Order: sequence, then C-alpha cells, then structure tokens
Amino acid sequence: MDISIKNIAEEEVTADTLVLPFFENNSAAFYDHLDSLIGGFIRKALHSKEFTGKHKQLTLLHVQNIKAGRVLLAGLGKQSDLTAERIRQTGGKALAYLRDIGASGIAVSNGVFKKTAGDSLNLREAKNKPMYYFLEGGLLGLYKFEKFRKAENGKEVKSVSILAADKDIPLRKLRAAVDAVNFARDLVNTPSNSMTPETLGSIALSLSGKKIRVKVLERKEAEKEGMGAYLSVAGGSAESPRFIVVEYKGGKGAPLVLIGKAITFDSGGISIKPAEGMEKMKYDMAGGAAVLAVMRAASELEPEMNIIGLLPAAENMPGGTASKPGDVVRTITGKTVEIISTDAEGRLTLADAIGYAIKHYKPMGMVDLATLTGACSIALGGEAIAMMGSGPELMESLKKAAEETHERVWQMPLYDEYRDYIKSDVADLKNAGGRNGSLVTAGYFLREFSGDTPWVHLDIAGTAWNDKDRPYLPKGASGIGVRLMLDLLEGLCSSEK
Ligand code: BES
Ligand code: MN
Ligand code: ZN
Repeated sequence: MDISIKNIAEEEVTADTLVLPFFENNSAAFYDHLDSLIGGFIRKALHSKEFTGKHKQLTLLHVQNIKAGRVLLAGLGKQSDLTAERIRQTGGKALAYLRDIGASGIAVSNGVFKKTAGDSLNLREAKNKPMYYFLEGGLLGLYKFEKFRKAENGKEVKSVSILAADKDIPLRKLRAAVDAVNFARDLVNTPSNSMTPETLGSIALSLSGKKIRVKVLERKEAEKEGMGAYLSVAGGSAESPRFIVVEYKGGKGAPLVLIGKAITFDSGGISIKPAEGMEKMKYDMAGGAAVLAVMRAASELEPEMNIIGLLPAAENMPGGTASKPGDVVRTITGKTVEIISTDAEGRLTLADAIGYAIKHYKPMGMVDLATLTGACSIALGGEAIAMMGSGPELMESLKKAAEETHERVWQMPLYDEYRDYIKSDVADLKNAGGRNGSLVTAGYFLREFSGDTPWVHLDIAGTAWNDKDRPYLPKGASGIGVRLMLDLLEGLCSSEK
C-alpha cells in the first residue's frame, strides 16, 4: 500500500474518496470552499443534523465537480474531548468502512486540524500530531486475516494520502510500527498446527541481517544450558521445543532483554483445560509474537541501543511423556520448582528465559510479555496490561509509553507476603499458588528469578485477543505490546542522548 503526504487542496485530490474529519457541532466553516464547489451537500448534511461530527460517526456523500467521486464525513467528537486515542478510533472506523465499500484510493484532509492549530488541541501526548494518529488508527484498522480462505470480497485499499504541509509526520516510523503490529497479529492468528515452535524458529531466522543475529537452540542445547523447567513444558508434545534468541546490535552498553511467552498451543497439559474456548489457546504465543515483531521493526528503524529478544517456544500437551503434577524440575539458575499444575506452564518457560538472559547478557533491564494468567482478564478485562516488576525506572518509562500508545498498563503489587503463596514442601518454589491472587503470584514467581536486574512483567492475557471488533483492533489477535515496546525503545534512546 502506498502511503504519502500531499500538500494539495481537497479539490485537487485524485483519489476516489476524500475523508473530511469534523469536530462535533463546530466544523461547518472548515470546508466552506470545497462545499461551495460540490453544491453545498456538506452544509445540508450538517443542517439536517444527519451528521453532527459525533465521535466515530460516518456519513458518505456522492459528489460532483471535484475529482474525488465520494466524500466521507468523519466525526472526531467534541474538540474539547479530543485525544490521540479518539483520533485513532475515528481513523480506524473510517478506513475500514471505506475498504468495505470498495474504496481503493483514499485522501484524508487535515482541514480541521490546520484551522485549529493555534488553539490547544487538548492532546496530552507529546507528539501532538493529529494526522499521525488518524493514519495510525486507519492503517491498523484495515488489518484482516485471510490466510486460510479466499478473501470475502477481495476489496483492498491501495493508497492512503494525507493532505498536509507537515513533512514532520514520521511516515517511516509509522509504517514500520503498523507493519510490525500486523506481523504479530498474523503470527498469533495462525493456528497452532501451522505455527509450531519450529515455525517460530524459522521465522526468527529469517530476520537475520546486518544488525540482527539469530540463534535457535534445540532440545539438546537447552538441556546443556540446564533449562529443565522450560523443557518440561514441551515434554508431552510431538512438536519439539525451540529456544529462540534474537540479538540486535545497534549501540553500546548492556542490552535491554525482551522476553516473550511463546506457547504455540496451551492445552493445559495433564492439568488439561476445559474444552470450551480451548481453540483460543493458539494465542498463548502472543508475547513471543510481539517480541519478534519488535525485533523486526528494530532492524528497520535501527535504534541506537542493544536489544535481545528471547522466545522460549514450546507446545503444552498431555501425553505419556508429559510432566505430571508433583514433578520437580530444575531451572537454569539452580532453583527447583514443584509442578502443582502443568497448566501454569508459562512461568516455567519464562523463569528459564530470565535466568538465561542474566547468565549470558548481564542486561540493563528485562521486560517480559506473557499471556500468563486468566486472572489478568478477570481483573482488568480487555482494557489494560497488568504490570509488575522490580525496576521502578523501567516501569515509569513503560507508563509513559503506555500513555502515548494507549496500550495501557496498570501496576499490580509484588508484596513480600506472596512468597508464602508459592512455598513448596519439596522444592524451592511451586508453580501455582491457588486461585487467590493468581495474577500477582505468577508475577512473584518470576520475581524469584530476576535477581538484581531491573525487570518488568507485563501480563497481556486480557488484551492480546479481542472477541469483538474494536475501532482499530479487528477481532482476533490485537498485536498488543508492539507499539508499547517500540515507544519504550524510542524513549530509552532519546534519554541516552
Ligand atoms: N495461558 C494461560 C493463561 C490464559 C488463560 C491466557 C486464558 C489467556 C486466556 C496460562 O498458561 C494458564 O493456564 N494459567 C493458569 C494458571 C493457574 C493454573 C495457576 C490460569 O491462569 O488459570
Ligand atoms: Mn496454561
Ligand atoms: Zn499458557
């Protein structure tokens, strides 16, 4: 798809569809000139109150006398309520609607923003680039997953341009971020028979390049590293595990390590899950997908820092060779774990990945992204990532990135008292502490492995999958964590300078 900025007037647009964003009840004058050219139909839509500019409202007009045959009026809501997120949502709704009615070339006017540029647009977010957000939401909203069937209507948007003089809008960055989110969505939506640990390994290898080195450890090598907890998860599966290491070298100093839970299917193992909804457990590798996507974007955007991506990939299945409740396994750190539930598998894989990161990289910080607990969705629904950690500065940076990207994080406590919840009678720890506090005891379990290295755990179980369409998040895999991480990296790089 072609994405561009064009410094031309609305009436010069050659695309088949022109989008005009409106504030609620006060944008009548912004498109006067254009409206008089097309015969006053915009004014009519406004006067009849058929279109008021209410947030996410859309009205399509067929017009003549200008090159575009159609004009879409798109509501941004009240100017005083404007946020980056509301702009994204309008962009997402507008472009997906236009795709569905067969628009192929789309141009978006920045009329309202240009004429209110002197006013405060009430955008708290640092960049204050309304058209950036419109395009971001728009492009993210066009995503569809059609890998396993013929596309329903084959309709596709071929070009999107924004009408602005503003060459500061960072299109390259926008493109890389949107492509990365959609890449992650594709990985997650792909079912587990087509997305095995081995597949993930070869996709990771395909990222190898100038600044990226990829290592994929197989069972033998992981055994040599002593990652017994991780390997125990793969024990019942015919799919062999892959411990994936992606190294990005873009600067000096200790790296930031990103760890993504990468269970390609979570049946629960011997502690098997109920049948209902089990098909969704293909999304248990959403953290890993996000990490791979971030590494891919890094190879394009080349941030000046070092980043390591780790994906302890495995499939969690029951079977004669599966681990069993009561088994004790040894992690790379030497700590032993009693397996209470084979369904608390994510933390077993992450514990070894955290240990591996410390052993091999002495990181400046570690962030893990994981669909770790059902309790995360119960606590926060689909509205925020649950954040816990031992790195207060890293958590502050993440809160900032969350505000900018609207991939919101909500901090949960790691009280010392939780230690008792995961005390085992036979091993150093047990992997499940019962129903109460299961969101935070999962975090606390990981804390036992992170030592003195600043570390943050992001539970994305509630946000990685949408059962319903959202304005720029089509139903299915959301790609959560990708924009959040990219914004975090950007923040870390600029604070270095
Ligand atoms: N992958 C699941 C968590 C999950 C559940 C993610 C639903 C997304 C939607 C994880 O491996 C799991 O099974 N967690 C258990 C832990 C329990 C056995 C301590 C849970 O949260 O129920
Ligand atoms: Mn599980
Ligand atoms: Zn899981």
